[in-house]
Amino acid sequence: MSENKFSTGVSNVNISGIRKLFEAAGPNAINLGIGEPDFDTPENIKKAAIQAINDGFTGYTAGLGIIELRNAICDKLSRENHISVKPNEVMVTSGASEALYISLSALVSPGDEVLIPNPGFLAYNSIVRLLNGKDVSVNLKEDLTLDIDDVLEKITPKTKAVILNSPGNPTGAVSSKSDIRALSEIADDKNITIISDEVYEYFIYEGEHVSPAQFSDNVVTINALSKSYAMTGWRVGYLAAKENYVGQILKVHQYLQACANSIAQKAAVEALAGPQDSVVRMKNEFKNRRDVLVKGLNDIGLPCVMPKGAFYAFPEIKNCDKAAETLLKNDVVVTPGTAFGSNGIDHIRISYAASMDDIKKALAIMEKVL
Ligand SMILES: Cc1ncc(COP(=O)(O)O)c(C=O)c1O
Repeated sequence: MSENKFSTGVSNVNISGIRKLFEAAGPNAINLGIGEPDFDTPENIKKAAIQAINDGFTGYTAGLGIIELRNAICDKLSRENHISVKPNEVMVTSGASEALYISLSALVSPGDEVLIPNPGFLAYNSIVRLLNGKDVSVNLKEDLTLDIDDVLEKITPKTKAVILNSPGNPTGAVSSKSDIRALSEIADDKNITIISDEVYEYFIYEGEHVSPAQFSDNVVTINALSKSYAMTGWRVGYLAAKENYVGQILKVHQYLQACANSIAQKAAVEALAGPQDSVVRMKNEFKNRRDVLVKGLNDIGLPCVMPKGAFYAFPEIKNCDKAAETLLKNDVVVTPGTAFGSNGIDHIRISYAASMDDIKKALAIMEKVL
């Protein structure tokens, strides 16, 4: 058998470390490892999907997505994010995951560099590697937001894009408006693209969400209904960018996916245009859990920066792989920081998308075994 049966790209990527731990957990384990809301999709959204099925809305849609949904996305972006785009500058995708993949595919040739927060969401460097690009780590500041000075330092003639993820996974950190404005100016000056992954935008407990696309045209804004509306399994997200970007990205989308799921698109219209009380309820619940978790962690001697957003805490702990293993043996699943990049060392990620009861039980176990 040839040693080179598989591509360089795929050989340079590992299976997600988060899944591995998750799958090793016992049936009674408290799962603080997972990155999805522990809420059900709101009823009005489910009803819209059932209606779509009953109406026979089960065929392919336009590649960019159904126009009602793109109109709803334009309204949302204009109202909440100060981003002005036309419906042909919006593309509905199979979750933020697809949007990230196709955007990077349209930008990265072999050897091109992409600046990625370290630690950061696992998919970023894996996608760049699959494309035979080079992932370049950007450090975080003490408050765990992206270090804009380090971005500037790491830019080379090969740099094509920088990934911004605020609120961030795994840190929960929210970048300041001044940092996002500065990053936008850098993107314009250096002619590089900001890929702005905003999937946790609705879960901000202090501060405000700022989209770089309000300052620069060199931005692909990526979002999804997955986290905001407890719709991870529905696989519906979107990207928005100027027409020159969308025209190129659409080619990848057409051959990869053809279009997003038709039924999920109808449900997404209801999610965006319908009542928003479920989002507010989820956010309030996450905030209560965050407060209990972070206080608990600091009380038991695991220093933890107060995360301003998302649903993750990222406390410091020496020997994080060992700590995660010990916790797993004691039926608590967390993710070692190293799963998110080398700079994640000496941290664990704890998801508080779990019940308050489970969070309190997990804190008691941590106090005992760590
Ligand atoms: C930062 C970030 N971006 C994107 C995604 C993927 O989102 P989706 O489920 O919409 O593909 C996740 C999921 O965990 C995430 O944490």
